[in-house]
Amino acid sequence: MKGKDEFYTVRGYKMINAEKKLLTTSMEDYLEMIYRICKKEDYVRMNQLAKNLNVRPSSATKIVQKLRDLGMVDYEKYGVIQLTEEGERLGKFLLERHNIIEEFLKIIGTEATRLRDTEIMEHGVSISTLRNISILNKFLLVNPDIMEQFIRFKADCNKSMDCL
Ligand code: FE2
Repeated sequence: MKGKDEFYTVRGYKMINAEKKLLTTSMEDYLEMIYRICKKEDYVRMNQLAKNLNVRPSSATKIVQKLRDLGMVDYEKYGVIQLTEEGERLGKFLLERHNIIEEFLKIIGTEATRLRDTEIMEHGVSISTLRNISILNKFLLVNPDIMEQFIRFKADCNKSMDCL
């Protein structure tokens, strides 16, 4: 299962690079949200999607139509939105990317602005940086002693004026 996930992740990276940012930032947000919902419920209705993204249904419709034109979703007017195979693969990657960045920010101790920062950082991060962050997350998870050292070091930094 892990190998399969990694395969999808690498495919996701390649897809994004190969398509030279064919998806705009907001299209990425929509696809990530459609994937989040469809993972549990198989399909999503426009009103529900708009509500989850805090946008008007008319705005959501425009973006979903663009995703449909790119072959990422199936959507008939007034119908339900479902992911195509390609959409599901890219959506899975976008959610993984979100989770890697969010986990990293959690590790370094970002609390109040964690979600907002994740939403900004995820769209600009390169494949190699994302991979490096993912490795660092895993490294710290399997080395709690080093994580402890970091937390102590950070507390000292916050007490002194040496750090930013
Ligand atoms: Fe996100």
